[in-house]
Amino acid sequence: MKVLVTGGAGFIGSATVDLLLEEGYSVVIIDDLSTGRASNINPRATFYKMDITHKGLEKVLRKERAEGVVHAAAQPQVRRSLGDPILDARANILGTINLLLGCGKVEKFVYASSGGAVYGEPRYLPVDEEHPVAPLSPYGLSKYVAESYLEVLRDLPYTVLRYGNVYGPRQDPDGEAGVVAIFAGRLLRGQRPTIFGDGKQTRDFVFVGDVARANLLALEKGEGVLNIGSGRETSVLEVLDALKALTGRETEPVYAPPVEGEVRRIYLSIEKARRVLGWRPTVRFSDGAARLLEHLTSRSSP
Ligand SMILES: NC(=O)c1ccc[n+]([C@@H]2O[C@H](COP(=O)([O-])OP(=O)(O)OC[C@H]3O[C@@H](n4cnc5c(N)ncnc54)[C@H](O)[C@@H]3O)[C@@H](O)[C@H]2O)c1
Repeated sequence: MKVLVTGGAGFIGSATVDLLLEEGYSVVIIDDLSTGRASNINPRATFYKMDITHKGLEKVLRKERAEGVVHAAAQPQVRRSLGDPILDARANILGTINLLLGCGKVEKFVYASSGGAVYGEPRYLPVDEEHPVAPLSPYGLSKYVAESYLEVLRDLPYTVLRYGNVYGPRQDPDGEAGVVAIFAGRLLRGQRPTIFGDGKQTRDFVFVGDVARANLLALEKGEGVLNIGSGRETSVLEVLDALKALTGRETEPVYAPPVEGEVRRIYLSIEKARRVLGWRPTVRFSDGAARLLEHLTSRSSP
């Protein structure tokens, strides 16, 4: 099967590309390298440097005729979406529409959505796929609108995967989002991490390799909307404690006001993904965090 991975130079997209190639798929990547890195691109994949909102996209899609799509290209940051909702909507909504219109008759379309952003402040925990959708940010809204276009625009078999907070190797320690990588980067540099709010806000942290496997399984089976997370609630303070233990650094955090558009508590029910895909998370937080630390250390050494 030939699979198109949009955003295949990014953190989650590149892990997915590597796994697909390992499993014998042939892979085409489309990425504009706006937040992705050329060094993440697997040389065994065919790569097009292109913006998914571009008119020329259809020509590439017609030439490559991928049978499956993993659509991971997006403006991925809540804070950036608050500052520039037009840029966010352009990449996340118009980019998805352009891709859907151009991708022809694919056997399966897998969309990388966000469990952390589309549900809003949970009415109950853990949040399952029946939970009402009420995004708190332009990012959450654009991810949900793009999901809805899958349903409305084309008659394609599709799976929407709503990921928790994904972490692991290749996550940017200098980005605006991705608390695990940001804390890890700061601890390794001997700098104090900043906690927005009191640190008791919770998230569902899921390792990138487990997410890549969910993407692969979703290409092969199942349909509909599925949460992909750890099924566990972990606070930002617990993340910091785990990283302090792994690095042996006793650096104390700096506290700053909470960020608008972010939820207080969330974790996901992952029962449906277990049932539909036979998927479950396999990497414990401390092991996944150790792999991220190893990656950051090897990147900064000469
Ligand atoms: N990281 C998380 O915790 C998380 C959680 C839920 C959902 N997601 C979703 O997963 C996907 C991947 O996110 P990530 O964390 O790997 O971020 P990332 O920034 O590493 O990856 C996004 C990739 O898309 C590319 N891209 C952005 N706009 C583009 C455009 N207009 N045309 C072509 N390429 C474009 C970027 O260059 C980058 O390589 C996104 O759709 C994001 O919304 C991420």
